[in-house]
Amino acid sequence: MVRSSSLLACTAFLLPALVGAQYSMVKEYQGASFFDDWNFYNNYDNLTSGNVNYLSAKTAGQDQLAYINDAGNAIMKVDNTSTLNVGANRNSIRISTKDHFTVGSMWITDMVHVPYGCSVWPAFWSSAQDWPSGGEIDTFEGVNQVTMNQMALHTAPGCTHPANATQTSKLVNSTDCSIDANNNEGCVVTTPTTSSYGQGFAADGGGMFVTEFAEDGISVWFFNRSSIPSALSGNASTVNPSDLGTPTANWPSSSCSPAQFFDPQALVFDITLCGEFAGNSVIFQETCSGVCYDDWVLGPPSNYDNAYFEVQYVRVYGATGELTVISGARPSTPYRSVVAAAALAVAAVGGALLAL
Ligand SMILES: *[C@@H]1O[C@H](CO)[C@@H](O)[C@H](O)[C@H]1NC(C)=O
Ligand SMILES: *[C@@H]1O[C@H](CO)[C@@H](O)[C@H](O)[C@H]1NC(C)=O
Ligand SMILES: *[C@@H]1O[C@H](CO)[C@@H](O)[C@H](O)[C@H]1NC(C)=O
Ligand SMILES: *[C@@H]1O[C@H](CO)[C@@H](O)[C@H](O)[C@H]1NC(C)=O
Ligand SMILES: *[C@@H]1O[C@H](CO)[C@@H](O)[C@H](O)[C@H]1NC(C)=O
Ligand SMILES: *[C@@H]1O[C@H](CO)[C@@H](O)[C@H](O)[C@H]1NC(C)=O
Repeated sequence: MVRSSSLLACTAFLLPALVGAQYSMVKEYQGASFFDDWNFYNNYDNLTSGNVNYLSAKTAGQDQLAYINDAGNAIMKVDNTSTLNVGANRNSIRISTKDHFTVGSMWITDMVHVPYGCSVWPAFWSSAQDWPSGGEIDTFEGVNQVTMNQMALHTAPGCTHPANATQTSKLVNSTDCSIDANNNEGCVVTTPTTSSYGQGFAADGGGMFVTEFAEDGISVWFFNRSSIPSALSGNASTVNPSDLGTPTANWPSSSCSPAQFFDPQALVFDITLCGEFAGNSVIFQETCSGVCYDDWVLGPPSNYDNAYFEVQYVRVYGATGELTVISGARPSTPYRSVVAAAALAVAAVGGALLAL
């Protein structure tokens, strides 16, 4: 269960050069093997009431809704070729990583296109096995024709976004992260640039989202293509957050302790249509017209020509020398026992090396 992480810890002991690095790469989803270590949801959207069927890996491949394109990038898209009968859902994709990542992790994605358009609701986020009470981190999310990405946390009651957070965005939409407050809106911060979502993101050649899930807080950085820091260009095998500047959004542990409110997280990409957020009649009318399902989902399939992710990679990093990857689909033991076992394994590896 912790084999790959034990090897990583071992490498860190053997290679002093790595010890100064705060995070080291533990997992890469990229190129031809991008889809290998994700579960495909294979069910209609019974989570957010959207008008989609999430396909199995097999059907998604056959129908070319999830595939690797000629540039070597992963495509995940909504069906834009079928005309639907009244009552039918449109086919789409929802995938989540087989591994879970503990506090002390960072994940980075480089995307060249994200889904947008009326009725479209995409997200790149993370979730605990016990959802939503085990914590949810939304790195990337948008609906309809909004122009800026929104980030959020969703937690059990008790976690808030404070006024003194260390972040560049001044666009704070809501501050109570509790799933019981404000219809589970979460504590939302908006990315203050139109290159962070929709057509603006695509026109700028996309960009990178970095999520740090650390003991001292959760942070998200957005970098458009022209402002990617040198620390993240190329194939950085280690990352130090101090090289990334002030995050776009930050939820410090002083008012939202990651260790208290977040179980290990699996990463998720999904694209739904309408549903509780995009299809909310007030929100829908803010940037679109007509009726979400009747006029858009049932409308011409070309409504969905821009409803796709094009992802260069997702990389996950772990605090150097720590065990942060829980392999397999679902951790079968509670978080605290996993962390305790991991600490014992590190001690064992250290002990073995000292014995040499
Ligand atoms: C959604 O459907 C899946 C597959 O049938 C099922 O395992 C899961 O419990 C359902 N979730 C909810 C919230 O209904
Ligand atoms: C923000 O305020 C809280 C509560 O007063 C305090 O504990 C924390 O240290 C402050 N954080 C910063 C970054 O100033
Ligand atoms: C959050 O606030 C920004 C800036 O005021 C606004 O553009 C955006 O629509 C808001 N988002 C939500 C979900 O209300
Ligand atoms: C890219 O980001 C930089 C730095 O935040 C900003 O100045 C610039 O306007 C952005 N470019 C676009 C096309 O939004
Ligand atoms: C990064 O790694 C990928 C796959 O291993 C490779 O195709 C690409 O050329 C590398 N890029 C750089 C800048 O080293
Ligand atoms: C569907 O969308 C893709 C982009 O994802 C586009 O290349 C294609 O032309 C669109 N239309 C059809 C009929 O496939």
